[in-house]
Formats: sequence, structure tokens, C-alpha cells
Amino acid sequence: MKAALVETPGQPLVLRDDVEIADPGPGQVRVKVSHCGVCHSDLSIVDGQFPSPVPILLGHEAAGHVDAIGPNVTTLAPGDPVVLTPCPPCGKCYWCVRSEPALCVDSIGIQTNTFADGTTGLSRGGETVYRGLNVAGFAEYVLTQEAGAVKIPADVPLDIACVIGCAVQTGVGAVLNTAAVEEGATVLVMGLGGIGLSVVQGARIAGASRIIASDPVSERREAAKQFGATDLLDPGSDDVIGRAREITEVGVDYAFETAGSAALVEAGFQAVRNGGTVVCVGAAPIDQSITITPAVLLTISEKKLIGCVLGSVNSLREIPRLIALWRAGRLDLESLITARRPLAEINEAMEDLRTSRGVRTVLTI
Ligand SMILES: NC(=O)c1ccc[n+]([C@@H]2O[C@H](COP(=O)([O-])OP(=O)(O)OC[C@H]3O[C@@H](n4cnc5c(N)ncnc54)[C@H](O)[C@@H]3O)[C@@H](O)[C@H]2O)c1
Ligand SMILES: [Zn+2]
Ligand SMILES: [Zn+2]
Repeated sequence: MKAALVETPGQPLVLRDDVEIADPGPGQVRVKVSHCGVCHSDLSIVDGQFPSPVPILLGHEAAGHVDAIGPNVTTLAPGDPVVLTPCPPCGKCYWCVRSEPALCVDSIGIQTNTFADGTTGLSRGGETVYRGLNVAGFAEYVLTQEAGAVKIPADVPLDIACVIGCAVQTGVGAVLNTAAVEEGATVLVMGLGGIGLSVVQGARIAGASRIIASDPVSERREAAKQFGATDLLDPGSDDVIGRAREITEVGVDYAFETAGSAALVEAGFQAVRNGGTVVCVGAAPIDQSITITPAVLLTISEKKLIGCVLGSVNSLREIPRLIALWRAGRLDLESLITARRPLAEINEAMEDLRTSRGVRTVLTI
């Protein structure tokens, strides 16, 4: 099949037509991909900020139609339209039974870039191709677990549904599930890409009273306003911490780091009120770290720092819920997508993201 591979981190992706994909095994399905969005987590691997094995097939924000099902698959049939998810909940493991499905054993692939048993179902000339971030969607076909492909109604356009897979599940889920933001709460969002703008939308859906949105890119601040932000800040000229504290008088209830910067996690601690919560959604380069003074930031102030993978979602529940919100006119998917390109322009799509041109670029496969 055709697929875009990272062969050498730091170099452009290479378009190949000789990648082999296995037939679906027990409990697996193969999906013909129609569209795949480009996320900063892909870019961080392309640029070598997250070390990963190569060759690797990235793309984890995809939608398409089921092409074939393996033995024991009962909930999907060939032809079903689906959104793919990087965190498929098996329903049975330690984490799934504790209602932490985003941490399911089958989600280990976002760390290993393989299935849980170490295979990938992908190869080229006999050599293993890694299954980037547990999906591998910059290709004609994806092989995944049954719960890795979530059926959606046939009338939902796949070119917009694909962004639910990562950006929207992560951003809206971070608000509704990870942080469980309550009505009337105050929120600061630092970084307004596909993830941060989805946090803004999630905060609006949750009924937050102030949604303070910060990004150096003016087009992205304007987009945040359209998505429901009440206050816009430019970190280049505004004192973000000072303004957030001024607007809310005591500091925000929740600060979301959605740019991928360790320094902004620390800024979040300054911006939240005593008892407030910093939600770490962005994935800062692994050579960055944070310094916390426990006595000041945690003990006497009861501030909290929480992590977030894919919005702590159960994708089997979350994807239908997000589509229902979209149908009700409460979730704008269309405005997240600012460019469409053929797979052949994958390097231009990476450049869109590198330079914050538009918001999400979706590839037509
Ligand atoms: N937790 C998860 O499960 C998960 C899922 C997907 C993506 N991510 C991570 O989320 C982050 C965002 O992804 P994205 O696709 O939206 O990226 P993006 O590049 O589209 O957006 C990042 C934004 O941060 C802005 N920014 C940079 N410096 C800033 C500053 N000092 N203050 C405020 N904003 C600043 C940029 O201008 C840009 O608009 C990445 O680190 C990505 O790897 C995490
Ligand atoms: Zn992503
Ligand atoms: Zn599980």
C-alpha cells in the first residue's frame, strides 16, 4: 500500500508504495483510510523531539471505512464508517475495569509504536515498519483492534470526523473527563492549536464562566474567540499570569498547558488559585523538565498537577458523544480544519503545523 514513512528523524517524510499490511488477526479490523489530520505529536517524532524507532508510519487522527474483519470481531462489519482512536479500550484489563480506559493495556502502542504483543502488522521488504502512536494513519489502510475503530453514523462527513480521533477527544476530554471542569469555573488555556482550541470548546460546553486563551499567533487567538474564549492574551506582549490573576481576582480554577512547553506547566502553577488544578496536556520535548517547590506549590496551597492522555476518554463512549454534540450545534469541527491536502503533500502539511499556518491540516488519503 501507499504510505508516508519517517525513515530518518529530522528529514522529510518519504512517500512509499511498497508497505505491506497484514490481514486482520483475531479481534482485529483493517480500515481503508479516507482522511487523516496532522497533530503536533506526529511532528515531534518527525523532527526528532521524541525519539522513536524507524521506519515509522505516523498519523493518528484518522477516519475511514472498515475493509476487513478478523475472527471474533462482532461489533463491526466491512463498509462501516469509523473514526480511529489511539487508545482502544479492551474493557477487561486492570485499567479498563477501574474506569481508566485511556490507560488500557492496548494503549501501550502510543509508547512502543507496536501492538501490545510487539508486532505491528506493517513491513517493507521484510523489515518491520513501526505503527506510529498506535494508529499509523498516513497510509491507505490501518490495522487495529476492534475497539480501535469506532463506528459512526453514515451521514457524518469523514473529512471532518477524523479530527475527533485526537484533537477533539483530547481537548474536550481534558475538560470533561480529566479535569471535570464544573459550570461557572474559570479556565486558562495556553496554546491554541487543534488541542488548545478543543480545550476552549470543551470549557464552553462545560459552562466555564471565563475562558482565558493565550497564544502568540493572532489568527489562533481569533479562532479561540470564535470557539468560545472570553479573554485573549498574547504571551509576547501580555503578562499572562498577571492578567489571569487579575481577571479572576484569585487565579484561575484550571490552567491547561496545550503548547507542549515545560515552562508553561510552571506558569500554570502561578496562574491557578490556591486549590486550583494545572492540567498537562501538551507533550513537551523530553529534554525539558519542571521544578516544583512542594511546600509552596502543593502543601500549603493545595494546588494540583494532573496528566492527560487523550482526554482520559473511553473512545467507545466519547466519539459518539462528540458527534452528538456536533449534531446539536454545540461542537464546531469544521472550523478546526483550515487546509486539506493530498497525502503527497505530507511534508507541506508538516510545515503548516511547524509554522502554525491555519489550525489543522487534513490529508486526503
Ligand atoms: N495529551 C495528549 O494525549 C496529547 C494529544 C495530542 C497532542 N498532544 C500534544 O499537545 C500539544 C499541542 O498539539 P497541537 O497539535 O495543538 O499543536 P500546535 O502546534 O497546533 O499548537 C501549539 C500552539 O502553542 C502555541 N504556543 C507556543 N508557545 C506558546 C506560549 N508561550 N504560550 C502560549 N501558546 C504558545 C503555538 O503558537 C501553537 O499555536 C503538543 O505538545 C502535542 O504533542 C497531547
Ligand atoms: Zn495527536
Ligand atoms: Zn483495557
